[in-house]
Amino acid sequence: MPPDFASRLVAWQRDRGRHDLPWQGGADPYPVWVSEIMLQQTQVETVIPYFRRFTSRFPDLAALAAADEDQVLALWSGLGYYRRGRNLHAAARRIVAEHGGRFPEDFAAIQSLPGIGRSTAAAIAVFAFGQRRAILDGNVRRVLARVYGVAGWPGDRTVENRLWTLAESLLPTTGIRAYTQGLMDLGAMVCTRGRPRCETCPFTDDCLANRQGLQRELPGPRPRKTLPEKSAAMLVLLRAGEVLLEKRPPSGIWGGLWSLPECGESDDPRAAARRLGFEADVADALPAFSHSFTHFRLFIRPWALRVSRAGTVAEPGRLWLSLDDLEGAALPTPVRRILESVRA
Ligand code: ADE
Repeated sequence: MPPDFASRLVAWQRDRGRHDLPWQGGADPYPVWVSEIMLQQTQVETVIPYFRRFTSRFPDLAALAAADEDQVLALWSGLGYYRRGRNLHAAARRIVAEHGGRFPEDFAAIQSLPGIGRSTAAAIAVFAFGQRRAILDGNVRRVLARVYGVAGWPGDRTVENRLWTLAESLLPTTGIRAYTQGLMDLGAMVCTRGRPRCETCPFTDDCLANRQGLQRELPGPRPRKTLPEKSAAMLVLLRAGEVLLEKRPPSGIWGGLWSLPECGESDDPRAAARRLGFEADVADALPAFSHSFTHFRLFIRPWALRVSRAGTVAEPGRLWLSLDDLEGAALPTPVRRILESVRA
């Protein structure tokens, strides 16, 4: 196996890696932290515009800590995995309360913040403070599993431990930033899941997967488990160009976001509207679709209803949103999709 893994990776990164990402190059941990959280489940190209909007609205940690959760989630809307946004906000407040508003440098302190696991803490420690720490995100697992021929599913505890040990053992003594960025860049640009570009890889001659033609087999797949299906009908209650939204409870799917009222899939939507205090007529059965979460698939059947008589006035946790104001609202992606189709 390549004995000079780190130095070759550093050389490759300097030559071929990414150097112009909007969170790169500064000495401020705040943009590093925000970007690493956004990049946890989302690709660079998708993250960039969200990162720019987020950091121009909240230019520093103090501004983020002072914001309402709703404002934070509105800027997260569309990125998915909203827990990341809530954790980011909670962490900003913790840093103000416990670290005088300065992002901590101590590795254990970084890792104890909400939303920051071992790999994210290491990425922040490297990029913000130049610490010598190993990262192991999905891309890095794939690179190491292939180059060093580590079999098995990386989500398995034993396989994961083996990969961490390997990641730690490969760290260079100098050039930790370029090395870490190089691992990420190689995983995203060359050693991709689908069609790796092995001919352009600095490890093409040594990589175990490439030598044995095992790129498709490594890393090993997650043991198959079919996702359970759930279903829900959603009520799009319309009144004078506005739609009724309800705030979701703080935990669980779409926690804290504004969503549509739901009823059982076989409930009568007019009766469901009446239970909410509205007389309404069904205007349209909108196309049903499904939305996948990590642990289940949700089959969604939306009903558009026109409200003829409003019931009670404003209740906490309810909101009439103008269909012209969808952009700024903290909506789950499928709800946004439904409301955009209604507005069209
Ligand atoms: N993925 C996770 N962190 C990243 C970073 N800093 N640059 C590019 N891709 C990443």
